[in-house]
Amino acid sequence: MRTIAVINQKGGCGKTTVSINLASALADEGKKTLLIDMDPQGHCAVGLAVPDEQIEQGIYDVLLSSRRGEPIKLTEVLWEISDNFELAPASIDLAAFEQQTNGMTDRENCLKDVLAAVARDFDYVIVDCPPAVNLLTFNALRASTDVIVPVETGYFSLHGLSRQLDTLSILCKQCSQHINVMVLASMYDIRTKMGREILAELRKNFAGRMFWTVVNFNTKLKEAASLGQPICEYDPASRGHKDFQGLAQELIATDTLVEQKKIAVAVDKHEPVIQASIQAKERKEIIEELDNNLESISSSAQELLAGLKGETKTRVKKDINDKLNDFYGARQLGNSIKFVTLYPRAQKVQIAGDFNNWKPQQTIMQPGKDGKWELAMELAPGKYRYRMVVDGQWQQDPYNENIELNPFGEYNSILEVKQI
Ligand SMILES: Nc1ncnc2c1ncn2[C@@H]1O[C@H](COP(=O)(O)OP(=O)(O)O)[C@@H](O)[C@H]1O
Ligand SMILES: [Mg+2]
Repeated sequence: MRTIAVINQKGGCGKTTVSINLASALADEGKKTLLIDMDPQGHCAVGLAVPDEQIEQGIYDVLLSSRRGEPIKLTEVLWEISDNFELAPASIDLAAFEQQTNGMTDRENCLKDVLAAVARDFDYVIVDCPPAVNLLTFNALRASTDVIVPVETGYFSLHGLSRQLDTLSILCKQCSQHINVMVLASMYDIRTKMGREILAELRKNFAGRMFWTVVNFNTKLKEAASLGQPICEYDPASRGHKDFQGLAQELIATDTLVEQKKIAVAVDKHEPVIQASIQAKERKEIIEELDNNLESISSSAQELLAGLKGETKTRVKKDINDKLNDFYGARQLGNSIKFVTLYPRAQKVQIAGDFNNWKPQQTIMQPGKDGKWELAMELAPGKYRYRMVVDGQWQQDPYNENIELNPFGEYNSILEVKQI
């Protein structure tokens, strides 16, 4: 059984999205998968449409009872999500875990002990962690063979990265098992020049410690979560689904490697392997190796940031301008909506939508440099549908992933104008 903790102290970097969709993609690959929600906010249940009011007992009850006379079995709190995919939900009680276990011995090993009892029932356990370094995160880490650190590929997200990795390194030092730490680029927006540059830098600096697969920014993932579905059910044709399929396959491909390292350091009474003396020595070496690994990841992050900072404020300003200039699609700027698209060979690009009674001749885009076309217009707050008309050919906006099927069996692009 491989246990993977999804950790990052930063909220909103995609931990829950990665946890839910990776678990579901692993299940789809035929692996028996358990998702454990260690975040008291209980977002996994929300994202998988498990009704909050029906959750009578969650992971909190199991963890706490593991240290009391009559333990509650993990299997008693599981929700079946789909074939091979079960969820141990969290409730808000989990926030009291630290306080409730105060004074208890071995309280950082509760999850590890609970999982040891189901080691033969699952191939993978994914643990969604809270955006904090606390006893819950430490429990996750103690139980894990692997850690995934989702990192947004934006300039500002790099600021916290080295501090996050430093903290993780301190935590790992306190663990006595081998942990394989990998960085995962998340919410990657290929359309921005800065996103592309940062991904290239991350790849260069974190070679070997970063997943080859990247999770792209994909609005379908957001929609799927709000409807309580994993992406494989909500939209199997989406980019988001392909990314998670790729990530699951990349992980599965390293199963044997991780298993070998795990056996080499097994100290758990459930996995009696190799004599204790050899284990202790190897364990020490592996922990040191892990620690060095994390330290070097962390210093690479600092170098990467220093490199970016070193190129003077003008450069950063320029990058932000480039980022703005690099935008394609429809974007609200105050009360005005700016459409930007790229059709290097087109003679005429127009927009038709319910805002102009689907009359493209009223909204003609202006040609710019290098095949770029632009148009700004004022629109009242509300939801609009539109299509691009390129040399007379009607098509969906290739840079807007928010789409809806129209009565002709084609896709309209959707635009939501917000009240300022
Ligand atoms: N790859 C992605 N593409 C688009 N939206 C995403 C992506 N990953 C996460 N999100 C959205 O970003 C928000 C924060 O993500 P979440 O997974 O809840 O982060 P965390 O668990 O780290 O707080 C959510 O609204 C989620 O739907
Ligand atoms: Mg979360």
